[in-house]
Amino acid sequence: AFTVELRRSGGVVEVGAEESTLAAVRRELPDTPYSCEQGFCGTCQHRVLAGEVDHRDDLLTDQERGESMLLCVSRAKGDRLALDL
Ligand code: FES
Repeated sequence: AFTVELRRSGGVVEVGAEESTLAAVRRELPDTPYSCEQGFCGTCQHRVLAGEVDHRDDLLTDQERGESMLLCVSRAKGDRLALDL
């Protein structure tokens, strides 16, 4: 499990081992857009402000990985991420 800080809205969510980052974020922000939930479409791409990401998609370029993540498949490497959400 890890913690995601939603810097713009001021929320904090815990992401359990059995759920996606997207699912946890949507508990706090139900309007967060998504579509495929499999790392293909890019709809759930969001900017990462702090923390190291465990990227689990094949879509993003290295440059995009440096500053963003796909919420549906990717997770934190450490115990905390901060998102621009
Ligand atoms: Fe399609 Fe995440 S919802 S890449």
